[in-house]
Amino acid sequence: MNRSNRGLFAGAVAICGMACAAPVGEAQAPAGMQQAVDNAFATFRTLKEGKNADYIPALAKVDPNLFGIAVVTADGKVYIAGDVKTEVSIQSISKVFTMAQVIQEQGLEAVEKTIGVDATGARFNSIIAVEAVRTVVGTGAPEMNPLVNPGAISATSMVRGASSDEVWKKIIGFHNDAAGRQLSVLQDVYKSESDTNQRNQAIGALMLAYGYIKNNWQQAVDLYTRQCSIGVNARDLAMMAATLAFAGKNPVTGKQVMDSAKVPGVLAVMATAGLYDDSGKWLYHTGLPAKSGVGGGIIAVSPGKFGIAVVSPPLDDAGNSVRAQRAIAAISNAVGGNPLAAR
Ligand code: DON
Repeated sequence: MNRSNRGLFAGAVAICGMACAAPVGEAQAPAGMQQAVDNAFATFRTLKEGKNADYIPALAKVDPNLFGIAVVTADGKVYIAGDVKTEVSIQSISKVFTMAQVIQEQGLEAVEKTIGVDATGARFNSIIAVEAVRTVVGTGAPEMNPLVNPGAISATSMVRGASSDEVWKKIIGFHNDAAGRQLSVLQDVYKSESDTNQRNQAIGALMLAYGYIKNNWQQAVDLYTRQCSIGVNARDLAMMAATLAFAGKNPVTGKQVMDSAKVPGVLAVMATAGLYDDSGKWLYHTGLPAKSGVGGGIIAVSPGKFGIAVVSPPLDDAGNSVRAQRAIAAISNAVGGNPLAAR
């Protein structure tokens, strides 16, 4: 769908290091990982394509040169290159973990029946998509998903709690457990987005009108805005991806964050909708369930092998980090990370 990055993955599929010969289900770290990470960093650090998101004013101010890569393997080893300490706002990557929390709390069916698990093929904040795919809830399967804004705001509204504070504690708690440390909200981003999120407010109201949200859409939009403003660095994001890669268990803290049986549902929605209208192209070239955020992060999951994340703010037309897509594709294909490729 997105024309500006044609050729983005040129050559990526053909790249495959010695780990391509590794047996299926191998629990060890793929061979050559640090080399692949270093190569990707050296290759893409000078790439200047893309532009910071600016519809949230605070995001336009983030250094476009920030570039960090982190990979976490089964043994909890972290492979890094570049700046893996500077925090950016997690943005849409949070949608994965709030969806995961609702699935953990209420089961796979709750999300499927209330929101849906189908790609919209539209931009992440499309209102036309809401009109195009809605059905009357209760009389048919809704064909939305929790990784686009309307579905994500609805997922946030599903997190149970007697007060906004109680719901927030659960949302940030789940993110903390996946990251393996205490995260906090970047207040400048939260304020900037709260001041300018009228479109998301309209989406929230629409989702209430159409029955996806049961009550208090304003609270759902506010908590959604807050979860998008959580500060994370490349290392945090890689750890969160690794928690999904290793059946819901954080490989460093050892905490079982979600039931292993529920993780494939999360990965399925990431695979079909994680990079919005470019999800098909991404999957075609990497096979990896992934999720992007307009803060510049992308996470990707090679189940049983590694969780990977790259932070680099300049985005393409679809809202996905240009360098992150290229670096993740190159690293994963170099170490045999494509879960769709038989070995
Ligand atoms: O709701 C928004 O527009 C942002 N908080 C998040 C959008 C986003 O990250 C889309 N990702 N690629």
